[in-house]
Amino acid sequence: MTDLPKGWNRVRRVVCPGSFDPVTNGHLDIIGRAAGLYDEVIVAVLINKTKQTLFTVDERVEILGEVTARYGNVRVERFHGLLVEFCEANGISAVVKGLRAVSDFEYEMQMAQMNYRMAKVETLFMTTNPLYSFLSSSLIKDVARYGGDVSGLVPDPVIERLRARLAQS
Ligand code: PNS
Repeated sequence: MTDLPKGWNRVRRVVCPGSFDPVTNGHLDIIGRAAGLYDEVIVAVLINKTKQTLFTVDERVEILGEVTARYGNVRVERFHGLLVEFCEANGISAVVKGLRAVSDFEYEMQMAQMNYRMAKVETLFMTTNPLYSFLSSSLIKDVARYGGDVSGLVPDPVIERLRARLAQS
């Protein structure tokens, strides 16, 4: 068996990072499948003060907590700064990401290679469920903003919160 760097564990705990503004059924599918493969999945919500979001970090963490509660081994956290620093601080050696289409690949590969270059953090790609491969949080917000039906594409708690938030604007 190949030796790992000192202090590292074999992959038991992985991270699913993202903005999750809001979480979609595509995200949830990846999180659930990762939860079936690894002992522990940490969903890490990016705190990005320079980007305007529809939901606050607290709201996104709360929604994710609600919709992942059925998995006993998923924990929701928040992070700012470099993902690899969050990984180092939490004993995480691999990131799990969903790949929707070839268009995702180039940027995802760049980030994966940079994260490996910086801290030897691995990235494991999962192909998304074709039912959700066209989904993105931005598309959901756009459709919902103009009154389109997003049921079946995001978890129910998101539908209610989208409705409430968009009614305010
Ligand atoms: O849901 P998103 O917005 O596509 O998620 C992107 C995310 C949060 C995974 C990515 O932007 C990230 O890891 N940001 C943290 C900052 C960082 O580590 N940047 C260098 C990446 S190589």
